[in-house]
Amino acid sequence: MPLSLTPIMPGFAAEAGGLDLSSPLDSPDIRAIEAAMDEHAVLVFRGQALAPEAQLRFAQNFGKLDLGFKKASKAPNRLAHEALLDISNVDETGQVADRNHRKIVGNLANQLWHSDSSFQNPPARYSMLHAVVLPAAGGETEFADMRAACDALPPAQRQRLRELRAEHYALHSRFLLGDDDYSEAQRQAIPPVVWPLVRRHPGSGRELLFIGAHASRVLELSVAEGRLLLMDLLEHATQPRFVYRHAWRPADLVMWDNRSTLHRGRPFDLAARRELRRTTTLEAASAQ
Ligand code: OGA
Ligand code: MN
Repeated sequence: MPLSLTPIMPGFAAEAGGLDLSSPLDSPDIRAIEAAMDEHAVLVFRGQALAPEAQLRFAQNFGKLDLGFKKASKAPNRLAHEALLDISNVDETGQVADRNHRKIVGNLANQLWHSDSSFQNPPARYSMLHAVVLPAAGGETEFADMRAACDALPPAQRQRLRELRAEHYALHSRFLLGDDDYSEAQRQAIPPVVWPLVRRHPGSGRELLFIGAHASRVLELSVAEGRLLLMDLLEHATQPRFVYRHAWRPADLVMWDNRSTLHRGRPFDLAARRELRRTTTLEAASAQ
């Protein structure tokens, strides 16, 4: 069966059916998914129980796998595959981690609006998050449409933003949450990168706002002015009219484009087990 799409919001997010993601996809299916991502930016596949190997194989259809997060993490990866990111509150012994465990703060940083790996070059292209165990309440994931947010800006402001660039730094979101216990070597392990505030999506041709919790300052402005601008843009871009909230069910796989969207997790009871697994692919190398 070919890919079928049911839009969730006008022009943003769609439920995708018709494919079994656990078996190899042929190239028309892969191209159909890429075209759907260009249009909708978030795809929700329901009822896809995927073994780690199958999730990795699915991701590899869409580019090189992102391994950069290893450098930013203070906790060992519980999953036996280095390209499979453990988005869970479970410690290395398999128990729900204590709320003071070093892994939890990294997890909490996911509750700030962000674009995965925007702090490295190349940054992330697609992220694919697969739900395994979910808490009874909370723990949704929200997605905001950075293309619609960009389109909605007054033309003069949009023109001004086209001339500005932001620095993105891996530890900025950790510092925001008060987690600053890093050595000089850890601080320098992932040097910051610079991206224009407004980028053009290579697939859709649409302009988008490239912001989020890794953006630490605007090069052309003072630190204070730049941070205020970034906060203002984030407030604009995450208004409810631009946001899809995904309520997870076990065996969901949600795939998003990290250029066209920001995302964040929502709070849940940290004593309740929540286990998801993420694969991420990289953008084609860029000199931007
Ligand atoms: C991620 C992420 C949010 C969540 O996996 O990249 O930000 O709801 N997750 O777990
Ligand atoms: Mn994320």
